Amino acid sequence: MKFQLLASFVLLASSSLVAAAPLEERAAPPVPYFSGFNLGANKPDGSCKTQANWEQEFKKIRSWSTNTKDKFNSIKIFSTNDCNALANAAPAAIATGTTIWAGIWPSTPEKFNAEKAALEAQLKKYQSTGNKWLMGINVGSEALYRKEIDPKVLAQYIYDIKGMTQIAYKATHVPVGSADTWTSWVDGRNKPVIDASDVILMNAFPYWQGVEVEAGLRTFQEAINRTKNVIGPNKPFVVGETGWPSAGPNFQKAIACKSCLQKYYTNVACWLQKQSYGWYWFSGFDEPKRESEIERNFGIAWYGQTPKVNFTCPK
Ligand SMILES: *[C@@H]1O[C@H](CO)[C@@H](O)[C@H](O)[C@H]1NC(C)=O
Ligand SMILES: *[C@@H]1O[C@H](CO)[C@@H](O)[C@H](O)[C@H]1NC(C)=O
Repeated sequence: MKFQLLASFVLLASSSLVAAAPLEERAAPPVPYFSGFNLGANKPDGSCKTQANWEQEFKKIRSWSTNTKDKFNSIKIFSTNDCNALANAAPAAIATGTTIWAGIWPSTPEKFNAEKAALEAQLKKYQSTGNKWLMGINVGSEALYRKEIDPKVLAQYIYDIKGMTQIAYKATHVPVGSADTWTSWVDGRNKPVIDASDVILMNAFPYWQGVEVEAGLRTFQEAINRTKNVIGPNKPFVVGETGWPSAGPNFQKAIACKSCLQKYYTNVACWLQKQSYGWYWFSGFDEPKRESEIERNFGIAWYGQTPKVNFTCPK
């Protein structure tokens, strides 16, 4: 069935494009430097964010920018369909000059199809303006880490979304890949996903590796080095998630505290800016409805929307 889906898009493509190269041979879209934040689709009371809520958050996040390189004009969401996230966030992004990196849940064929349909609805709605609001797509968010999908099936889903986005809707600037932990990317069983991806989004949390915050940057750089050794120097690479909790229980040598978050931000975000690796911090705002105390405290700002850190990078 998945192969039929792919075939239907290739068919659609051949009627609109005379000589589309096979997806495997098309050059991956370049990924320019950007910086921004992961955002959930729910408000603190658990209800879904409206278009007005997204717009307010995008404006707030852009107001945090303290330099011309980190414009904070891109955000990453985890699902297109849950809470109608993409339908509400896309017009908010267009209104505020923000771009969106859209996550697609692939956990079951039904879920994947609903996510794909929610993406297609927005691609269609904004096709005439070139869909410039869409920065990239990750099919799967730690799906390999949770072992909830066969890597070959995930690779097929990535080709399916690429065919729809880049060929059928001609959004050739939009790279399609997957977001996963660095440990997943260095696991040889996941090579089909790397091969199918235009871009690799790496999630890495030195806090969860139990190191003290002073070792955070080095631990994070090791994760990048090991991932890049596997994906190769030419595969576009983006940090999908990194962050440090400002409160909650400690994990081995890793201490959750506000000054630790500041140290980790200054060390890691400012280094990423120098390296020009695009990044999405995890996350924009605390999520008070999350189950564990530690997971409620990964926001760079309290939900009252005051940042916990000074974003200025040392010269
Ligand atoms: C990562 O790789 C770079 C380039 O090879 C090297 O300079 C650096 O020391 C490495 N960092 C770590 C922490 O392994
Ligand atoms: C942030 O840090 C910079 C550089 O140290 C300083 O100039 C600036 O006043 C600080 N901003 C705030 C809001 O504290």
